[in-house]
Amino acid sequence: MKVLLIGGGGREHAIAEAITRSRKNPELYATMSKKNPGIARLCKDFLLVKETEPSIIDYAVKNKIELAVIGPEAPLAAGIPDLLRDAGIRVVGPQKLAAQIEFDKAWMREFMKKYRISGCPRFKVFRRGESGSDEFIDEIGDVVIKPAGLTGGKGVRVMGDHFDINGAKVYAREVLKNDDLVIEERLIGEEFTVQAFVDGNTLIYAPSVQDHKRAYEGDKGPNTGGMGSYNDSKDILPFMKESDYTDAKKIMKDTVLAIKKETGVPYQGVLYGQFMATANGISVIEFNARFGDPEAMNVLPILENDFLDVCAAIVGGTLDKTRVTFKKQATVCKYAVPAGYPDNPVKDSVVEIVEVKDALLFYSSVYEKDNKIYTTGSRAIAVLGMADTIREAEMKAQKGLSALKGALHSRHDIGTDELIRKRIQHMKELRAE
Ligand code: AMP
Ligand code: GLY
Repeated sequence: MKVLLIGGGGREHAIAEAITRSRKNPELYATMSKKNPGIARLCKDFLLVKETEPSIIDYAVKNKIELAVIGPEAPLAAGIPDLLRDAGIRVVGPQKLAAQIEFDKAWMREFMKKYRISGCPRFKVFRRGESGSDEFIDEIGDVVIKPAGLTGGKGVRVMGDHFDINGAKVYAREVLKNDDLVIEERLIGEEFTVQAFVDGNTLIYAPSVQDHKRAYEGDKGPNTGGMGSYNDSKDILPFMKESDYTDAKKIMKDTVLAIKKETGVPYQGVLYGQFMATANGISVIEFNARFGDPEAMNVLPILENDFLDVCAAIVGGTLDKTRVTFKKQATVCKYAVPAGYPDNPVKDSVVEIVEVKDALLFYSSVYEKDNKIYTTGSRAIAVLGMADTIREAEMKAQKGLSALKGALHSRHDIGTDELIRKRIQHMKELRAE
């Protein structure tokens, strides 16, 4: 079977590993903007091209691709799945109308409200150039400001962490010069992610994962694409209640069914729900129309099924007849990012990889030249520890990190007992238990 993977980051390296582990002996092709050495090694052939270029379709047709798997959000927003489908290629990744749930945050909130999907915070959408944002910020008080379009997780600013009320007003007016905007109430609690395989009607859910968006230890500093993530050896995380997971699954299912009603298009691919567990149950922070990066690296290595069987069920609408299971293993993923990331990252600096021992390694935004690996300025390399407990998985991830030499930094606190205790304590206080 000939499979095309679109995208060249750490998430896509994990997807490439899952595809090539298949018993179906797939031939893997890839299109990516830079040569990811991990993916390139697993491919029969690859094309270096921007992930939104329609020429990807010609490449797919020329190579007689039967199934395409989309990694990142940009090709979804550019309608690449629609073009591939028009060319007769089956696609794991929703069509543009359905992917709006991710790339238009204003659409997403108004859609949640229209279909009365639970977990929607108080919000208001402002269109480019519209006035009234100051008044709404005064009304809500504690706000989050979100440009409506894709910003790689870096455009969202949160009151208290990034600015005071006057700063919020200035930022909102600034964004409104060029983009639509969502202003919403700041949710207080602990974040978690649930990713699901979706065939249009049926959802199969992976275990919950927690990402770490802030650049520095102790959840300080600017938002990033995600510095690392972990899951436990069961569906919920140590600070979660079983009902948080059940409620998240219900919200995701309601969302998929409502997308079909609203757009007429069945959602086929991966749906990523990001939630905040708060004092009063869970709320939705955002939806993504794809796996998370790094969260894909937590769940794909513990998937017990042949990934291509799951893909076939997604595109064939037969997930209800497919039993999908995950190993009861904890994982801890940590990114090594260039020094100075995300504001002033060191680019084109050499990374030396010694021996990662029993951690898994996923290449992300690095490139290979003359047998050397260089940083690009984005998240460089991820390591993953996998074990029976989060503690053991964390130790393996740390060993993996110590094998990477270069102008890099990481969050060593991800998955540690201390940080997890802090999360549990935070939820206890909020729930006044
Ligand atoms: P997003 O790109 O929507 O995931 O936002 C990036 C990050 O901003 C999230 O991971 C949260 O940490 C934070 N965030 C977004 N929306 C909210 C909200 N309503 N309340 C609190 N934090 C939020
Ligand atoms: N880790 C967050 C994301 O993939 O959007």
